[in-house]
Amino acid sequence: MKLADNKATLSFSNGSPSVEMPVYQGNIGPDVIDIRKLYAQTGMFTYDPGFLSTASCQSGITYIDGDKGELLYRGYPIEQLATNVDYLDTCHLLLKGELPNESERTDFHKLVTNHTMVNEQMQFFLRGFRRDAHPMAVLTGLVGALSAFYHDSTDINNPEHREIAAIRLIAKMPTLVAMAYKYGVGQPFMYPQNDLSYSGNFLRMMFGTPCEEYKVNPVIERAMDRIFILHADHEQNASTSTVRLCGSSGTNPFAAIAAGVACLWGPAHGGANEACLNMLEDIQRQGGVSKVGQFMEQVKDKNSGVKLMGFGHRVYKNYDPRAKLMQETCNEVLEALGLENDPLFKLAKQLEKIALEDDYFVQRKLYPNVDFYSGIVQRAIGIPVNLFTGIFALARTVGWIAQLNEMIGDPEYKIGRPRQLFTGSVKRDVKPLNQR
Ligand code: ACO
Repeated sequence: MKLADNKATLSFSNGSPSVEMPVYQGNIGPDVIDIRKLYAQTGMFTYDPGFLSTASCQSGITYIDGDKGELLYRGYPIEQLATNVDYLDTCHLLLKGELPNESERTDFHKLVTNHTMVNEQMQFFLRGFRRDAHPMAVLTGLVGALSAFYHDSTDINNPEHREIAAIRLIAKMPTLVAMAYKYGVGQPFMYPQNDLSYSGNFLRMMFGTPCEEYKVNPVIERAMDRIFILHADHEQNASTSTVRLCGSSGTNPFAAIAAGVACLWGPAHGGANEACLNMLEDIQRQGGVSKVGQFMEQVKDKNSGVKLMGFGHRVYKNYDPRAKLMQETCNEVLEALGLENDPLFKLAKQLEKIALEDDYFVQRKLYPNVDFYSGIVQRAIGIPVNLFTGIFALARTVGWIAQLNEMIGDPEYKIGRPRQLFTGSVKRDVKPLNQR
């Protein structure tokens, strides 16, 4: 961290002495005021529910400029990564800081590929679930269960353990997500086939059966890979912060990632892709494009509780760059599958057009986020709606583990332990039952 030339001074209107606090500069983005000594100096905490103005850590992995609508992984714009490299190259970049050269690429792809199988016991664990269990419930359990299988990679303080845990997680997530799907539809699990690409293998484990050979469609393979790249990391979002907080207690990496999966499930976060597609299908059922105006009125009515899912973002106050790339992929996939006239895609475009011109959305700087189009692409590929967030979890696993490993290697890291403003009852005595 680089100290800035200036300092911040906090003064009080009640005559208490003011305090000076150091300011640190990042390489880009806002400076931060170091308040670590504030409590010792003033007896006061800061209050920031939802971390609106709080940097919880230093990080060199992902940078978002929300006003510009820019997303960089290790300095590289998401647009360049999405068009020039594949998901496993992106994993290498996020984990190790650099894109792989040719031999590093071969080695890394081989390493991940060698870990795609899961312990055969996993299927018995999975069979304990109801067939109609939500895939995110299943995945939270399965990822947590991995910690019981790999005793040689559960010490978060051992760099070799962390490295092999990262590779295992990246390699096994597609297998687990596909198993969760196959279990739900009552089809046999498909073992990974290691001569396929990461995305091709996932598609085969999802849609192949032992009865016939599965041919990977290269357009779908590329689309899947792009979905993975676009979701790979997104700095200190809710699930990543959950993984960091969970890992800060020294728990094992699989358990920390399971906590991330649980957090991602919520509709305000990773669950938005599922919620967005359900919303589009609802509008379509009620009359489609002709009902868009009515729906928008509901969205703008604070009392209705209706939100335009796939719109708005805590950080982006401009077009989410991932949404643009996803829209492009949407066009490609629908064309390749002969679904150019897909009514949901038309509906989504219409909603976007209206929202982008509407004062309510313009004033609040609400733009489509990555989830606005990702559901349409996934649905066209044949992925069931309730698996969308599972796909997101698969892709985000590398981001979680890269951020977790970065935290453990950071000399400034401590167990996460926020403070509070207490508004409950002050000390009182327990009364006997007949006097309460
Ligand atoms: N539809 C309608 N109004 C919205 C929406 C939306 N999708 N998003 C925000 N607003 C409104 C809020 O009601 C609020 O209005 P107000 O100032 O009049 O009270 C204003 O815009 C600011 O919104 P906040 O909720 O304060 O913004 P915050 O940063 O806390 O929330 C969030 C961001 C949770 C993503 C929100 O925009 C949302 O719920 N969007 C829909 C869900 C979604 O798509 N989530 C995916 C996020 S991306 C991801 O996780 C991959």
